Amino acid sequence: MLLTLLILCFIGFSSCSDSVANRLHNKIFDNYNPDVRPTTNSSAAVDVEVVFILESVRKLESSSETLVASIYIVLTWKDEFLVWNKTDYEEIDRILIPAKRVWVPDLYFSNSLSVQSGILTPGDYKLSVYNNGTVIWYIGRTSETRCDMNLEKFPFDTQTCSINLAHWASTVSEVKLSKKEISSQLKTCGTWNLEQLLAKEEFMDDAHQYQQLILQISLSRYPLFYVLTIILPICLLAVLNPVVFLVPAESGEKISVPVSILLAYSVILSALSELLPEVSDNISILGVYVCTMLCLKVVSVVASVGAVSLYHRSGSVPREGIYHWSGKYGRCGIKNTTDHLVDVNTDKEIISWQDVSRAFDRIMFCIMSAGALLISIVCAAFIFH
Ligand SMILES: *[C@@H]1O[C@H](CO)[C@@H](O)[C@H](O)[C@H]1NC(C)=O
Ligand SMILES: *[C@@H]1O[C@H](CO)[C@@H](O)[C@H](O)[C@H]1NC(C)=O
Ligand SMILES: *[C@@H]1O[C@H](CO)[C@@H](O)[C@H](O)[C@H]1NC(C)=O
Repeated sequence: MLLTLLILCFIGFSSCSDSVANRLHNKIFDNYNPDVRPTTNSSAAVDVEVVFILESVRKLESSSETLVASIYIVLTWKDEFLVWNKTDYEEIDRILIPAKRVWVPDLYFSNSLSVQSGILTPGDYKLSVYNNGTVIWYIGRTSETRCDMNLEKFPFDTQTCSINLAHWASTVSEVKLSKKEISSQLKTCGTWNLEQLLAKEEFMDDAHQYQQLILQISLSRYPLFYVLTIILPICLLAVLNPVVFLVPAESGEKISVPVSILLAYSVILSALSELLPEVSDNISILGVYVCTMLCLKVVSVVASVGAVSLYHRSGSVPREGIYHWSGKYGRCGIKNTTDHLVDVNTDKEIISWQDVSRAFDRIMFCIMSAGALLISIVCAAFIFH
């Protein structure tokens, strides 16, 4: 009886001894409960150190105000129940275990677009456990988080987005998060340039119970693409706008020119509508500029029609009043004396409707040039101030 027991023991021992790792696993997980917080002192918090690594910024969408980024999070804590003496186990000082078999902190991205995908569930991915109890959990995620964007200065804007890592249920007295370091290899990404990366610790409630770590990402936009595709065409068409009033009324093209410019502008506008940010609490100055320029173009069409109708008006111009004075201004600089008629009774120049129309054109040219220039300068000042 004793002999068989001894033999059984020996067989058991030898079968185990050919896999020390197996013996180690059995020893550790014999009495391990992944639901229990890994501290022997139940009133002490588990300190979880967090390392953020920003791998890439996939996109930052202004229409949905979403930041899609690939990040790695490295969590390190001490599990007091996962400790062994490595001299007893052939110097094995590290084992890999599926994350769901050990205690892991309950974390989620608190500003994630979808709550479900924001939860960091311990899956089948392995984490490392060291013989002194240190557990290191690498998590790679594509996070989709909300980002309040300020598009006032589009396309010369800098956006600050954040990825918030918070406890799902644990309070700070149970699990304490602390940032260790943040890093990123990336400098640029598509149309965005990484300006700054910052991490801070914060409480989500007034009672200071629920803690969150905030990874702040500042991105500045490369404006060149937008300058070439939006700003340049709009400015060029803005230059064309006053030129309309240099077209003489007798040429017969006076109305078709501003209408063609308006059409060209609307073609650019339809292309623009895809590039300009769609919704935003704060309207982009560029959007306001585009609208104002559209208004100026409509005004110039209306004014050209007015100038042509003045030109073809019959009858005499009243001797007094605005028409007379503007007509006199319209005659200025015209050296052709053949139509420099003078009324014999009053000894005053006779002003024709053509003169009035010409004066109107001159005035409109000045107003339009000054207006376009002023609006452009004001908008530029707002964007770059
Ligand atoms: C348990 O942790 C609490 C809080 O950190 C500490 O005040 C207390 O001394 C600890 N008890 C023991 C036995 O270590
Ligand atoms: C580990 O075990 C060896 C041999 O059993 C012993 O000498 C050593 O002191 C132990 N180390 C620790 C840290 O307990
Ligand atoms: C535990 O061991 C690992 C690997 O040897 C080491 O990096 C870590 O600093 C140790 N942690 C503590 C708390 O001693």
